This record gives sequence, structure tokens and C-alpha cells, in this order.
Amino acid sequence: MSERRVCVVTGSSSGIGAATVRRYAREGWDVVVNFSREPAPAQAVAAECRALGAQALVVQADVAADADCRRLAAEVEARFGRADVLVNNAGTTKFVAAGHLEGLDAADFQRIYAVNVIGAFQMVRALQPLLQRHPGAGIVNISSVASMMGIGSSLAYMASKGALNALTAGLARALGPAIRVNAIAPGLVETPWLQAGLGAERYAATVQGYKSRAALDAVIAPEDVADAAWWLGAGAAKTTGEVLLLDAGLRLTRG
Ligand SMILES: NC(=O)c1ccc[n+]([C@@H]2O[C@H](COP(=O)([O-])OP(=O)(O)OC[C@H]3O[C@@H](n4cnc5c(N)ncnc54)[C@H](OP(=O)(O)O)[C@@H]3O)[C@@H](O)[C@H]2O)c1
Repeated sequence: MSERRVCVVTGSSSGIGAATVRRYAREGWDVVVNFSREPAPAQAVAAECRALGAQALVVQADVAADADCRRLAAEVEARFGRADVLVNNAGTTKFVAAGHLEGLDAADFQRIYAVNVIGAFQMVRALQPLLQRHPGAGIVNISSVASMMGIGSSLAYMASKGALNALTAGLARALGPAIRVNAIAPGLVETPWLQAGLGAERYAATVQGYKSRAALDAVIAPEDVADAAWWLGAGAAKTTGEVLLLDAGLRLTRG
């Protein structure tokens, strides 16, 4: 078994997940970089983590597929023999204006829930045996302000993140005292996610609009979320079941 602690981050080939594995690598942990479609970005993130002194295992797995989650857990056990923190970051959405109800159907809800809610559950179930071997293990679920404010890419996405918050509370009760389970609800984070979903022009306007409404006149950097994921995962010894709002003060205003 590895002497160094190990952090598994789903969807860590880009954005928030990539910043989070880099953060844990910088703190002296080994990391597991996961992606579902594109291997090259995951290999690049793993190379960055290795340059920071970490061992980095790259695993392709779609968190919506339970067999993939269980294979990922088996690869982690074979390589490191341990997992100390799991960050459920992989997520998906469909960009549909909230008032356009006909723009969403049951299949959209099911696809989004399959990744954002069931995927997180399946990853927890697959890694629970490894996580509970070591005192102080932590799970961090990446939720969204969408779960609390009725804003975001679509109603299906907002609902999925609300469900993830409920899952966080339920798992915190169920898995304590061995494992702490918390969530982070970021506001607008500067990653490829929104840029791809909105297009360059709408993205720039959305960033400006967010800043003008947020008390701190700022949007969120992936590294801001990684800081919180580091604290909630590796520290925060007496915190469980919490959803940490990380929105630069958007919720203090009218939203
Ligand atoms: N950006 C924001 O403003 C914002 C705000 C609040 C919350 N969030 C949440 O933050 C999380 C990460 O978002 P991001 O902005 O960092 O997105 P991103 O830059 O688009 O990265 C998404 C990552 O997830 C992976 N992924 C997607 N579907 C997957 C699946 N089924 N299984 C495994 N990996 C999968 C992607 O790799 P592949 O494409 O290769 O699979 C990629 O590594 C999401 O849960 C999102 O809901 C984002």
C-alpha cells in the first residue's frame, strides 16, 4: 500500500477537476485523473501532476456506468491500495432557457441525473471499501448555486444538483463516523463548460452580468473551488453534510 494519501477526482481532465488534482498533487498526495471521452487532456493534466511530484493514474470511466465506477475503484486499489478522498466532480447539462419547458424531455432529465446524481452515488458505492480503511476519509460533491437559486443552464440541471445536495446529507449520516461527506456549490466558474455551452459572445455577457450582481464583483476561478475541495476533503475534521456556497456573494444580492 502506498504511504502517500490518494485523491480520486472524477471529470479531472478539465476545469474544476483538473485544478483539484493539481492542488492535491501540490500538497504531496497521489492522484487519480478521470475522464470519459478525451484521453489527451487527461494525460496532460496527469503530466502536470507528475511534474509536481505526484504519482498520477489516468482512468477512463463514465461515472454513469456502474461497471466503469467499479473498474476505476479496482484500478485504484491495484495501483495504490488506498483512497483517502473522492471528489465527485464529473457533471453534464443541457443548455435550455428555464422558461422553455418544451426544450426539455424525460430523456434529458434521465441523462443529466445519470451523471450528476447516480454517477456520484455509484462512485461512492464503488470506493466506500477503500475510503473507510483510513480514518478521516472525505467525499466532496461538486454541486452548484443552481441547486439553491433557480438559475443555471436548465431546470433539469438545477434539479440534479438539488438532488446531489440531498444525497450529500443522506450519505453524511449513513457513512459517518468513518467518512465525511460535503458539497461545494460554486457560482459561475471560468472553465470550458460555460464557454462551450453559451458561445463566446453570450459567455462574455454572462460573466459581466454575474460580476455586476455579485457582492465581490468577481466570478470564480477553478482554483477557488480546488481550495475548498482541498479543505473539505483533507481537513474540515468536524464538518459533514455541509453544502458550501462559493459564489463571490451572488446570493446576497437579487441573483
Ligand atoms: N463551470 C461552472 O460555471 C460550474 C458552476 C457550478 C458547478 N459546476 C460543476 O462543476 C463540475 C465540473 O465542471 P467544469 O466547469 O470544470 O466542466 P469542464 O471543464 O467541462 O470539465 C468537465 C469534466 O468532466 C468530464 N466528464 C464529463 N462527463 C463525464 C462522465 N460521464 N464521466 C466521467 N467524466 C466526465 C470531462 O471529460 P470528458 O469530456 O472526457 O468526459 C471533463 O474532465 C460539474 O459537475 C459542473 O456541474 C460548474
